[in-house]
Amino acid sequence: MKDMQFKRHRRLRSSANMRALVRETHLHIDDLIYPIFVVEGENIKKEISSMPGIYNLSLDQLKGEMDEVVALGIKSVLLFGVPNEKDAEGSGAFHNHGIVQEATRLIKKMYPEIIIIADTCLCEYTDHGHCGVIADGKILNDPSLDLLAKTAVSQAEAGADIIAPSNMMDGFVAAIRKGLDEAGYEDIPIMSYAVKYASAFYGPFRDAAGSTPQFGDRKTYQMDPANRLEALREAESDVEEGADFLIVKPTLSYLDIVRDVKNEFNLPVVAYNVSGEYSLIKAAAQNGWVDEKTIVLETLTSMKRAGSDLIITYFAKDVAKWLAE
Ligand code: PBG
Repeated sequence: MKDMQFKRHRRLRSSANMRALVRETHLHIDDLIYPIFVVEGENIKKEISSMPGIYNLSLDQLKGEMDEVVALGIKSVLLFGVPNEKDAEGSGAFHNHGIVQEATRLIKKMYPEIIIIADTCLCEYTDHGHCGVIADGKILNDPSLDLLAKTAVSQAEAGADIIAPSNMMDGFVAAIRKGLDEAGYEDIPIMSYAVKYASAFYGPFRDAAGSTPQFGDRKTYQMDPANRLEALREAESDVEEGADFLIVKPTLSYLDIVRDVKNEFNLPVVAYNVSGEYSLIKAAAQNGWVDEKTIVLETLTSMKRAGSDLIITYFAKDVAKWLAE
């Protein structure tokens, strides 16, 4: 034993304080973005069956939610709207009194310092559930861009601090940047869903937002999970078009992509810890099969270790509590 040569890695793991001293990655409350689903109507606080702990909230219920969010120290929220009426163009997305616009005004009145990120997409508002306009069963790229730009401008007008386009049409960052600039919102940043895969992990979200496509799927606009170089091309064009943040979505099966994007570009990288990732952990935790707190902190830490600066997560409130303990 005496003259054997080997490294003693365990020296740096000998106690909790020693481990804290050499810990390389830290989760921080400022990393967290909390998604909220606002619905039209009154007195609605409806739990999403596939997402325990996450609700559809009408505007009158938003105050309670925001009080909690603010008390926990969370500084930014991502708003999704669920309208009562849908049409072919998704006009609820760009209506001046649309649900996200009204929710934005309300939150700004209550908590002006909270960062409001508006998800900019059409799928929650179209009767066919696709993220763009349709003709002959095809999702049209360029005509969708005008609607997205209009949506972004109306969200900025309502007071949104960041525009987050998620619809994966080509040129959406350029179109939205131009729209915002022309309307005088050159100071409003774009958090682009730059790399968004056609993923089964969005299933529970589509329950929450009622945005399941009524025909076909999203594979002509969202990316093939098998592709890595394509992710870099997507991110590159968004950077050229003026994105200020780059989202990678989903996260857990795409941590390699998070790292690639972090290494290639010098914008803040945002990991979207999506609905299915939330639901899988929740379901297992509710069955007592995994320890929720430990597994959530482990997965979120892995996202930061992979290179994300920020994390959009339905666990944000839980994590805020755990970090404060
Ligand atoms: C809308 C949108 C989706 C998500 C965020 N924005 C769903 C989709 O593309 O079908 C998914 C978020 C989640 O699963 O948590 N385009």
